[in-house]
Amino acid sequence: MGRRLIAGNWKMNGLRGTGVALAKDLAARAQAAGEGGAELLICPPAQLLFTVAEALGNAPIALGGQDCHPAPSGAHTGDISAEMLADAGCSYAIVGHSERRGDHGEGDGVVKAKAEAALAAGLTPIVCVGETADQRRAGQALSVIETQVLGSLPADVPGARLVVAYEPVWAIGTGLTAEPADVEEAHGHIRGLLVGRLGTEAGGAVRVLYGGSVKPGNAAELLAVPNVDGALVGGASLKAQDFWAIAAT
Ligand code: PGA
Repeated sequence: MGRRLIAGNWKMNGLRGTGVALAKDLAARAQAAGEGGAELLICPPAQLLFTVAEALGNAPIALGGQDCHPAPSGAHTGDISAEMLADAGCSYAIVGHSERRGDHGEGDGVVKAKAEAALAAGLTPIVCVGETADQRRAGQALSVIETQVLGSLPADVPGARLVVAYEPVWAIGTGLTAEPADVEEAHGHIRGLLVGRLGTEAGGAVRVLYGGSVKPGNAAELLAVPNVDGALVGGASLKAQDFWAIAAT
């Protein structure tokens, strides 16, 4: 397994002033800490990518987009392509976040196409999956996760250049987190699917992140779960101190 990945998803938050201040604060912490800890990634809203890239300078923090269109360019008003993200300095793109699946009706086929577009542009896709509260109550959590993973993964994953994020929808932005035993079960299942699809070596090398109300106070417990290779952090990634505390866990 590679280094732990701690990714911050700023969602639709941050104007130039606050975004640059947050990026600079994190850059200073990362530069002072040096190499050796978790790999750090921040995913600001698209309009801030160029300015945040500049604010990060040569600090060891990667930049990512929150979504990308399946096509490299064209008549798609309001969308952003993976190529544009790469051009802005990104090395990752989140695809299939539950807020995209919910707000924009994105299904697995579209998510898969987006993941493939990210790969084609040289980015590492972070493919998000996760069940709703109703699905978990109905005992369908693992089957929902399985359908999403199998339907959303790119057809071909060169060099295991892929991250999967398990984010139970009911845990996102709610302050609720999944029980470690449930996280272990979900991540173990995802690992099995990855190994089945990509083989033992590549499937074992894909990092599987947990997301959903990860905070400094619960990060240690969640990150200690087998097959949890990092975290996708929303709300707590908007405070440098909290994001840093999670990264330093
Ligand atoms: P949250 O968001 O940490 O605010 O729950 C996580 C996510 O949606 O990626």
